[in-house]
Amino acid sequence: MSKIVPQKKIRILLGVCGGIAAYKSADLVRRLKERDFDVRVIMTESAAEFITPMTLQAVSGYSVHDALFDREAEAAMGHIELAKWADWILIAPATANTIAKLSVGICDDLLSTVVVASSAKCFIAPAMNQQMWASSVTQENISKLVSRDCHVLGPASGEQACGDVGFGRMLEPLEIAEQLVDYQQGQGSNSLPSNGLAGKRVLITAGPTVEAIDPVRFISNHSSGKMGYALAKAAQKQGAHVTLVSGPVNLTTPYAVDKVDVISAQDMLSAVKNRLVGCDIFIGCAAVADYTPVDVATQKIKKNDNDMQLTLKKNADIISWVAAQSKKPFVVGFAAESENLQQFAKSKLERKKLDMICANDISEPSLGFNSDNNRILILDKKGVQLQLPAASKEKIASDIIQQVSDRL
Ligand SMILES: Cc1cc2nc3c(=O)[nH]c(=O)nc-3n(C[C@H](O)[C@H](O)[C@H](O)COP(=O)(O)O)c2cc1C
Repeated sequence: MSKIVPQKKIRILLGVCGGIAAYKSADLVRRLKERDFDVRVIMTESAAEFITPMTLQAVSGYSVHDALFDREAEAAMGHIELAKWADWILIAPATANTIAKLSVGICDDLLSTVVVASSAKCFIAPAMNQQMWASSVTQENISKLVSRDCHVLGPASGEQACGDVGFGRMLEPLEIAEQLVDYQQGQGSNSLPSNGLAGKRVLITAGPTVEAIDPVRFISNHSSGKMGYALAKAAQKQGAHVTLVSGPVNLTTPYAVDKVDVISAQDMLSAVKNRLVGCDIFIGCAAVADYTPVDVATQKIKKNDNDMQLTLKKNADIISWVAAQSKKPFVVGFAAESENLQQFAKSKLERKKLDMICANDISEPSLGFNSDNNRILILDKKGVQLQLPAASKEKIASDIIQQVSDRL
Protein backbone atom coordinates (compact mmCIF):
# COMPACT_ATOMS: atom_id res chain seq x y z
CA MET A 1 0.00 0.00 0.00
CA SER A 2 1.40 3.38 -0.91
CA LYS A 3 2.11 5.70 1.97
CA ILE A 4 0.27 9.02 1.96
CA VAL A 5 2.74 11.81 2.67
CA PRO A 6 0.91 14.78 4.23
CA GLN A 7 1.52 18.01 2.31
CA LYS A 8 3.40 20.60 4.32
CA LYS A 9 1.33 23.74 4.85
CA ILE A 10 2.76 26.87 3.27
CA ARG A 11 3.89 29.22 6.03
CA ILE A 12 2.89 32.81 5.45
CA LEU A 13 4.31 35.62 7.51
CA LEU A 14 1.75 38.42 7.27
CA GLY A 15 3.19 41.92 7.73
CA VAL A 16 0.52 44.44 8.74
CA CYS A 17 1.39 48.13 8.30
CA GLY A 18 -0.21 51.32 9.61
CA GLY A 19 -2.96 52.11 7.14
CA ILE A 20 -6.73 52.25 7.42
CA ALA A 21 -7.00 48.89 5.62
CA ALA A 22 -5.30 47.22 8.62
CA TYR A 23 -8.80 46.64 9.96
CA LYS A 24 -9.21 44.05 7.18
CA SER A 25 -6.15 42.08 8.33
CA ALA A 26 -8.11 39.94 10.78
CA ASP A 27 -10.39 38.82 7.94
CA LEU A 28 -7.33 38.24 5.75
CA VAL A 29 -5.80 35.92 8.36
CA ARG A 30 -9.07 34.00 8.51
CA ARG A 31 -9.29 33.69 4.70
CA LEU A 32 -5.70 32.44 4.50
CA LYS A 33 -6.23 29.89 7.26
CA GLU A 34 -9.43 28.66 5.59
CA ARG A 35 -7.24 27.90 2.55
CA ASP A 36 -4.89 25.85 4.72
CA PHE A 37 -2.03 28.33 4.98
CA ASP A 38 -0.15 28.54 8.28
CA VAL A 39 -0.15 32.23 9.25
CA ARG A 40 1.92 34.24 11.71
CA VAL A 41 1.63 38.01 12.02
CA ILE A 42 4.14 40.84 12.36
CA MET A 43 2.77 44.34 12.96
CA THR A 44 4.52 47.65 12.57
CA GLU A 45 4.24 50.14 15.42
CA SER A 46 1.82 52.25 13.36
CA ALA A 47 -0.37 49.23 12.57
CA ALA A 48 -1.19 48.93 16.28
CA GLU A 49 -2.92 52.33 15.96
CA PHE A 50 -5.47 50.70 13.62
CA ILE A 51 -5.93 47.13 14.93
CA THR A 52 -4.93 45.50 18.21
CA PRO A 53 -2.29 42.76 18.39
CA MET A 54 -4.81 40.82 20.53
CA THR A 55 -7.26 40.55 17.61
CA LEU A 56 -4.61 39.24 15.23
CA GLN A 57 -3.27 36.87 17.87
CA ALA A 58 -6.75 35.45 18.44
CA VAL A 59 -7.42 34.83 14.72
CA SER A 60 -3.94 33.54 13.84
CA GLY A 61 -3.50 31.36 16.92
CA TYR A 62 0.08 32.60 17.44
CA SER A 63 1.49 35.49 19.43
CA VAL A 64 1.88 38.56 17.30
CA HIS A 65 5.39 39.93 16.74
CA ASP A 66 5.78 43.66 16.85
CA ALA A 67 9.16 44.63 18.32
CA LEU A 68 12.67 44.18 16.99
CA PHE A 69 14.36 44.71 20.34
CA ASP A 70 12.42 42.26 22.47
CA ARG A 71 14.62 40.05 24.67
CA GLU A 72 11.92 37.46 25.25
CA ALA A 73 11.06 37.17 21.57
CA GLU A 74 14.73 36.92 20.58
CA ALA A 75 15.13 34.04 23.07
CA ALA A 76 12.11 32.24 21.54
CA MET A 77 11.32 33.19 17.95
CA GLY A 78 13.54 36.13 17.08
CA HIS A 79 13.79 38.03 13.82
CA ILE A 80 16.09 35.53 12.11
CA GLU A 81 13.91 32.57 13.09
CA LEU A 82 10.86 34.38 11.75
CA ALA A 83 12.73 35.12 8.52
CA LYS A 84 13.62 31.43 8.17
CA TRP A 85 10.18 30.18 9.24
CA ALA A 86 8.39 31.93 6.36
CA ASP A 87 7.87 30.29 2.98
CA TRP A 88 6.15 33.48 1.83
CA ILE A 89 5.96 36.98 3.27
CA LEU A 90 2.74 38.86 2.53
CA ILE A 91 2.60 42.55 3.42
CA ALA A 92 -1.03 43.65 3.57
CA PRO A 93 -1.77 46.45 3.87
CA ALA A 94 1.58 47.74 2.63
CA THR A 95 1.97 51.45 3.35
CA ALA A 96 3.86 53.91 1.13
CA ASN A 97 6.34 54.21 4.00
CA THR A 98 7.10 50.47 4.27
CA ILE A 99 7.23 50.11 0.47
CA ALA A 100 9.79 52.96 0.38
CA LYS A 101 11.86 51.39 3.14
CA LEU A 102 11.89 47.98 1.47
CA SER A 103 12.85 49.46 -1.89
CA VAL A 104 16.16 50.65 -0.41
CA GLY A 105 16.66 47.98 2.25
CA ILE A 106 16.14 50.05 5.39
CA CYS A 107 15.87 47.75 8.42
CA ASP A 108 14.61 49.92 11.26
CA ASP A 109 11.77 47.79 12.61
CA LEU A 110 10.89 44.11 12.89
CA LEU A 111 8.98 43.83 9.60
CA SER A 112 11.57 45.53 7.38
CA THR A 113 14.41 43.63 9.08
CA VAL A 114 12.71 40.26 8.62
CA VAL A 115 11.96 40.95 4.92
CA VAL A 116 15.60 41.75 4.22
CA ALA A 117 16.78 38.79 6.33
CA SER A 118 14.51 36.33 4.52
CA SER A 119 14.79 34.49 1.23
CA ALA A 120 11.00 33.93 1.20
CA LYS A 121 8.90 34.95 -1.80
CA CYS A 122 7.44 38.38 -1.04
CA PHE A 123 3.93 39.58 -1.91
CA ILE A 124 2.88 43.17 -1.40
CA ALA A 125 -0.71 44.44 -1.28
CA PRO A 126 -0.45 48.25 -1.31
CA ALA A 127 -3.12 50.36 0.36
CA MET A 128 -3.01 54.13 0.38
CA ASN A 129 -4.59 57.34 -0.79
CA GLN A 130 -4.81 57.50 -4.60
CA GLN A 131 -2.38 60.45 -4.82
CA MET A 132 0.18 58.66 -2.62
CA TRP A 133 -0.09 55.62 -4.90
CA ALA A 134 0.13 57.68 -8.11
CA SER A 135 3.13 59.70 -6.91
CA SER A 136 6.27 59.06 -8.93
CA VAL A 137 8.26 58.18 -5.82
CA THR A 138 5.87 55.36 -4.84
CA GLN A 139 5.77 54.11 -8.43
CA GLU A 140 9.59 54.09 -8.59
CA ASN A 141 9.76 52.22 -5.29
CA ILE A 142 7.23 49.64 -6.48
CA SER A 143 9.14 49.15 -9.75
CA LYS A 144 12.31 48.45 -7.76
CA LEU A 145 10.51 45.83 -5.68
CA VAL A 146 9.01 44.20 -8.78
CA SER A 147 12.46 44.05 -10.38
CA ARG A 148 13.58 42.14 -7.27
CA ASP A 149 10.83 39.57 -7.82
CA CYS A 150 8.32 40.92 -5.31
CA HIS A 151 4.80 40.22 -6.49
CA VAL A 152 2.41 43.17 -6.22
CA LEU A 153 -1.27 42.36 -5.60
CA GLY A 154 -3.53 45.24 -6.65
CA PRO A 155 -4.30 47.89 -5.56
CA ALA A 156 -7.93 48.22 -6.59
CA SER A 157 -9.77 51.32 -7.66
CA GLY A 158 -12.76 52.82 -5.88
CA GLU A 159 -13.88 55.17 -3.15
CA GLN A 160 -11.34 55.63 -0.38
CA ALA A 161 -11.67 56.28 3.37
CA CYS A 162 -10.54 59.89 2.80
CA GLY A 163 -13.31 60.44 0.23
CA ASP A 164 -11.00 60.39 -2.84
CA VAL A 165 -11.73 58.04 -5.72
CA GLY A 166 -9.01 56.18 -7.63
CA PHE A 167 -6.44 53.40 -7.45
CA GLY A 168 -4.99 52.75 -4.00
CA ARG A 169 -7.52 50.57 -2.15
CA MET A 170 -6.19 47.28 -0.84
CA LEU A 171 -7.60 44.24 -2.64
CA GLU A 172 -10.30 42.54 -0.59
CA PRO A 173 -8.97 39.78 1.73
CA LEU A 174 -10.83 37.12 -0.24
CA GLU A 175 -9.22 38.26 -3.50
CA ILE A 176 -5.73 38.29 -1.93
CA ALA A 177 -6.24 34.79 -0.54
CA GLU A 178 -7.52 33.53 -3.92
CA GLN A 179 -4.55 35.05 -5.78
CA LEU A 180 -2.18 33.28 -3.39
CA VAL A 181 -4.00 29.99 -4.01
CA ASP A 182 -3.65 30.61 -7.79
CA TYR A 183 0.03 31.27 -7.26
CA GLN A 184 0.44 28.10 -5.19
CA GLN A 185 -1.30 26.02 -7.86
CA GLY A 186 0.82 27.51 -10.65
CA GLN A 187 4.10 27.05 -8.78
CA GLY A 188 6.74 25.20 -10.70
CA SER A 189 5.00 25.78 -14.03
CA ASN A 190 5.13 28.63 -16.50
CA SER A 191 1.55 29.60 -15.74
CA LEU A 192 2.39 32.05 -12.96
CA PRO A 193 0.96 35.47 -13.69
CA SER A 194 3.92 37.77 -14.21
CA ASN A 195 3.90 41.23 -12.67
CA GLY A 196 5.13 42.88 -15.86
CA LEU A 197 2.40 45.53 -15.94
CA ALA A 198 2.72 46.62 -12.30
CA GLY A 199 1.78 50.28 -12.04
CA LYS A 200 0.89 50.58 -15.75
CA ARG A 201 -2.38 52.19 -16.76
CA VAL A 202 -4.40 50.20 -19.25
CA LEU A 203 -7.54 51.45 -20.99
CA ILE A 204 -9.67 48.80 -22.71
CA THR A 205 -12.87 49.15 -24.73
CA ALA A 206 -15.20 46.16 -24.87
CA GLY A 207 -18.59 44.98 -26.09
CA PRO A 208 -20.86 46.42 -28.76
CA THR A 209 -22.13 49.97 -29.13
CA VAL A 210 -25.83 50.66 -29.52
CA GLU A 211 -26.96 53.37 -31.95
CA ALA A 212 -30.49 54.55 -31.34
CA ILE A 213 -32.98 54.90 -34.21
CA ASP A 214 -35.92 55.87 -32.01
CA PRO A 215 -36.78 55.23 -28.31
CA VAL A 216 -37.27 51.48 -28.93
CA ARG A 217 -35.12 50.55 -31.94
CA PHE A 218 -31.38 50.53 -32.44
CA ILE A 219 -28.47 49.31 -34.59
CA SER A 220 -25.92 47.10 -32.84
CA ASN A 221 -23.87 43.93 -33.34
CA HIS A 222 -23.22 40.49 -31.82
CA SER A 223 -20.21 41.40 -29.67
CA SER A 224 -20.57 39.78 -26.23
CA GLY A 225 -17.72 41.73 -24.60
CA LYS A 226 -16.15 38.45 -23.35
CA MET A 227 -12.78 39.06 -25.01
CA GLY A 228 -12.45 42.63 -23.69
CA TYR A 229 -13.47 41.58 -20.17
CA ALA A 230 -10.98 38.69 -20.23
CA LEU A 231 -8.25 41.14 -21.32
CA ALA A 232 -9.15 43.49 -18.45
CA LYS A 233 -8.89 40.61 -15.97
CA ALA A 234 -5.57 39.41 -17.42
CA ALA A 235 -4.06 42.92 -17.36
CA GLN A 236 -5.22 43.44 -13.77
CA LYS A 237 -3.62 40.13 -12.78
CA GLN A 238 -0.32 41.41 -14.20
CA GLY A 239 -0.55 44.34 -11.81
CA ALA A 240 -1.99 46.98 -14.17
CA HIS A 241 -4.56 49.65 -13.26
CA VAL A 242 -7.30 48.80 -15.67
CA THR A 243 -10.15 50.99 -16.86
CA LEU A 244 -12.75 49.19 -18.94
CA VAL A 245 -15.04 51.27 -21.15
CA SER A 246 -17.87 48.91 -21.90
CA GLY A 247 -20.87 48.90 -24.19
CA PRO A 248 -24.04 47.12 -22.95
CA VAL A 249 -23.17 43.49 -22.06
CA ASN A 250 -24.26 40.87 -19.56
CA LEU A 251 -20.95 40.27 -17.83
CA THR A 252 -19.58 40.70 -14.32
CA THR A 253 -16.96 43.41 -13.99
CA PRO A 254 -13.58 41.76 -13.28
CA TYR A 255 -12.29 42.32 -9.77
CA ALA A 256 -10.39 45.60 -9.12
CA VAL A 257 -11.17 46.91 -12.61
CA ASP A 258 -12.65 50.38 -12.97
CA LYS A 259 -15.64 50.10 -15.36
CA VAL A 260 -17.31 52.90 -17.28
CA ASP A 261 -20.63 52.02 -18.93
CA VAL A 262 -21.44 53.56 -22.30
CA ILE A 263 -24.13 53.03 -24.91
CA SER A 264 -23.25 54.62 -28.25
CA ALA A 265 -20.03 55.00 -30.21
CA GLN A 266 -20.11 58.73 -29.44
CA ASP A 267 -20.34 57.96 -25.66
CA MET A 268 -17.45 55.52 -25.99
CA LEU A 269 -15.29 58.10 -27.76
CA SER A 270 -16.01 60.70 -25.05
CA ALA A 271 -15.21 58.17 -22.27
CA VAL A 272 -11.91 57.26 -23.96
CA LYS A 273 -10.98 60.93 -24.50
CA ASN A 274 -11.63 61.65 -20.81
CA ARG A 275 -9.44 58.78 -19.63
CA LEU A 276 -6.52 58.69 -22.04
CA VAL A 277 -4.15 61.01 -20.16
CA GLY A 278 -1.46 58.98 -18.39
CA CYS A 279 -2.52 55.77 -20.11
CA ASP A 280 0.35 53.40 -21.05
CA ILE A 281 -1.63 50.87 -23.09
CA PHE A 282 -4.86 51.23 -25.06
CA ILE A 283 -6.64 48.10 -26.26
CA GLY A 284 -9.56 48.72 -28.61
CA CYS A 285 -11.53 45.49 -28.35
CA ALA A 286 -15.05 46.94 -28.65
CA ALA A 287 -17.08 46.34 -31.78
CA VAL A 288 -17.82 50.02 -32.36
CA ALA A 289 -20.59 50.80 -34.84
CA ASP A 290 -19.09 52.36 -37.97
CA TYR A 291 -22.32 54.23 -38.73
CA THR A 292 -25.10 55.83 -36.71
CA PRO A 293 -28.48 57.29 -37.74
CA VAL A 294 -28.31 60.95 -38.78
CA ASP A 295 -31.54 61.68 -36.90
CA VAL A 296 -32.78 59.90 -33.80
CA ALA A 297 -36.58 60.09 -33.64
CA THR A 298 -37.77 61.34 -30.28
CA GLN A 299 -41.04 59.34 -30.60
CA LYS A 300 -41.47 55.74 -31.75
CA ILE A 301 -41.53 55.66 -35.56
CA LYS A 302 -44.96 54.44 -36.70
CA LYS A 303 -45.28 51.72 -39.31
CA ASN A 304 -47.03 52.61 -42.57
CA ASP A 305 -47.47 50.97 -45.99
CA ASN A 306 -44.32 52.44 -47.52
CA ASP A 307 -40.74 51.22 -47.45
CA MET A 308 -38.48 53.24 -45.28
CA GLN A 309 -34.98 54.65 -45.68
CA LEU A 310 -32.61 55.24 -42.81
CA THR A 311 -29.77 57.72 -43.43
CA LEU A 312 -26.57 56.91 -41.58
CA LYS A 313 -23.49 59.00 -40.92
CA LYS A 314 -20.01 57.80 -40.15
CA ASN A 315 -18.92 57.52 -36.52
CA ALA A 316 -15.49 58.74 -35.45
CA ASP A 317 -12.85 55.99 -35.46
CA ILE A 318 -11.87 55.72 -31.78
CA ILE A 319 -8.67 53.71 -32.16
CA SER A 320 -7.37 55.93 -34.99
CA TRP A 321 -8.04 58.96 -32.80
CA VAL A 322 -6.01 57.37 -29.96
CA ALA A 323 -3.16 56.37 -32.28
CA ALA A 324 -3.00 59.91 -33.72
CA GLN A 325 -2.36 61.58 -30.34
CA SER A 326 1.12 63.09 -29.92
CA LYS A 327 1.56 61.37 -26.51
CA LYS A 328 0.01 58.11 -27.54
CA PRO A 329 0.02 54.90 -25.50
CA PHE A 330 0.96 51.48 -26.90
CA VAL A 331 -2.09 50.87 -29.10
CA VAL A 332 -3.56 47.42 -29.70
CA GLY A 333 -6.42 46.90 -32.15
CA PHE A 334 -8.67 43.99 -32.99
CA ALA A 335 -9.79 42.91 -36.44
CA ALA A 336 -12.70 40.52 -36.83
CA GLU A 337 -12.51 39.31 -40.44
CA SER A 338 -14.49 36.75 -42.40
CA GLU A 339 -11.89 36.44 -45.21
CA ASN A 340 -8.25 37.34 -46.02
CA LEU A 341 -7.48 37.54 -42.29
CA GLN A 342 -3.76 38.23 -42.47
CA GLN A 343 -3.95 40.71 -45.36
CA PHE A 344 -6.85 42.77 -43.94
CA ALA A 345 -5.33 42.81 -40.46
CA LYS A 346 -1.95 44.00 -41.78
CA SER A 347 -3.57 46.78 -43.76
CA LYS A 348 -5.59 47.87 -40.70
CA LEU A 349 -2.44 47.85 -38.54
CA GLU A 350 -0.66 50.15 -41.01
CA ARG A 351 -3.61 52.39 -41.92
CA LYS A 352 -4.52 53.08 -38.29
CA LYS A 353 -0.88 53.31 -37.11
CA LEU A 354 -1.33 50.65 -34.43
CA ASP A 355 1.49 48.99 -32.49
CA MET A 356 -0.12 45.57 -32.53
CA ILE A 357 -3.25 43.96 -33.93
CA CYS A 358 -5.11 40.80 -32.92
CA ALA A 359 -7.02 39.31 -35.82
CA ASN A 360 -9.69 36.68 -35.49
CA ASP A 361 -11.51 34.72 -38.15
CA ILE A 362 -15.26 35.12 -37.59
CA SER A 363 -16.16 32.69 -40.37
CA GLU A 364 -15.75 29.84 -37.88
CA PRO A 365 -18.98 29.74 -35.82
CA SER A 366 -17.38 28.02 -32.80
CA LEU A 367 -14.89 30.88 -32.36
CA GLY A 368 -15.04 34.64 -31.91
CA PHE A 369 -18.33 36.53 -31.51
CA ASN A 370 -20.37 35.34 -28.52
CA SER A 371 -18.28 32.18 -28.16
CA ASP A 372 -16.15 31.38 -25.08
CA ASN A 373 -13.24 30.51 -27.35
CA ASN A 374 -11.12 32.33 -29.86
CA ARG A 375 -8.17 31.92 -32.20
CA ILE A 376 -5.97 34.94 -32.75
CA LEU A 377 -3.28 35.94 -35.19
CA ILE A 378 -1.07 38.65 -33.69
CA LEU A 379 0.77 41.06 -36.00
CA ASP A 380 2.94 43.93 -34.80
CA LYS A 381 4.37 46.99 -36.51
CA LYS A 382 7.84 45.40 -36.67
CA GLY A 383 6.41 42.65 -38.87
CA VAL A 384 6.38 39.94 -36.18
CA GLN A 385 3.54 37.42 -36.63
CA LEU A 386 2.32 35.00 -33.98
CA GLN A 387 -0.54 32.52 -34.25
CA LEU A 388 -2.26 31.78 -30.94
CA PRO A 389 -4.04 28.43 -31.30
CA ALA A 390 -7.76 28.11 -30.51
CA ALA A 391 -8.27 28.33 -26.74
CA SER A 392 -10.57 29.86 -24.14
CA LYS A 393 -10.84 33.65 -24.24
CA GLU A 394 -9.25 33.71 -20.76
CA LYS A 395 -6.16 31.89 -22.03
CA ILE A 396 -5.99 33.96 -25.24
CA ALA A 397 -6.34 37.16 -23.17
CA SER A 398 -3.48 36.25 -20.88
CA ASP A 399 -1.28 35.40 -23.91
CA ILE A 400 -2.15 38.72 -25.60
CA ILE A 401 -1.40 40.67 -22.40
CA GLN A 402 1.91 38.85 -22.10
CA GLN A 403 2.75 39.81 -25.71
CA VAL A 404 1.92 43.46 -24.95
CA SER A 405 3.96 43.37 -21.74
CA ASP A 406 6.95 41.87 -23.63
CA ARG A 407 6.81 44.71 -26.18
CA LEU A 408 6.68 47.59 -23.67
C1 LIG B 1 -5.60 58.01 9.92
C2 LIG B 1 -4.39 57.62 9.12
C3 LIG B 1 -4.54 56.76 8.07
C4 LIG B 1 -3.43 56.40 7.29
N1 LIG B 1 -3.61 55.55 6.25
C5 LIG B 1 -2.55 55.23 5.47
C6 LIG B 1 -2.73 54.35 4.38
O1 LIG B 1 -3.82 53.86 4.09
N2 LIG B 1 -1.64 54.05 3.62
C7 LIG B 1 -0.41 54.58 3.89
O2 LIG B 1 0.53 54.29 3.14
N3 LIG B 1 -0.21 55.38 4.94
C8 LIG B 1 -1.25 55.72 5.74
N4 LIG B 1 -1.07 56.56 6.81
C9 LIG B 1 0.30 57.03 7.12
C10 LIG B 1 1.08 55.93 7.83
O3 LIG B 1 0.43 55.53 9.02
C11 LIG B 1 2.51 56.45 8.15
O4 LIG B 1 3.20 56.72 6.95
C12 LIG B 1 3.28 55.47 9.00
O5 LIG B 1 4.59 55.98 9.18
C13 LIG B 1 3.36 54.09 8.35
O6 LIG B 1 4.18 53.26 9.15
P1 LIG B 1 4.50 51.74 8.76
O7 LIG B 1 4.83 51.72 7.32
O8 LIG B 1 5.66 51.40 9.62
O9 LIG B 1 3.31 50.93 9.12
C14 LIG B 1 -2.14 56.93 7.60
C15 LIG B 1 -2.01 57.78 8.70
C16 LIG B 1 -3.12 58.14 9.43
C17 LIG B 1 -2.92 59.08 10.58
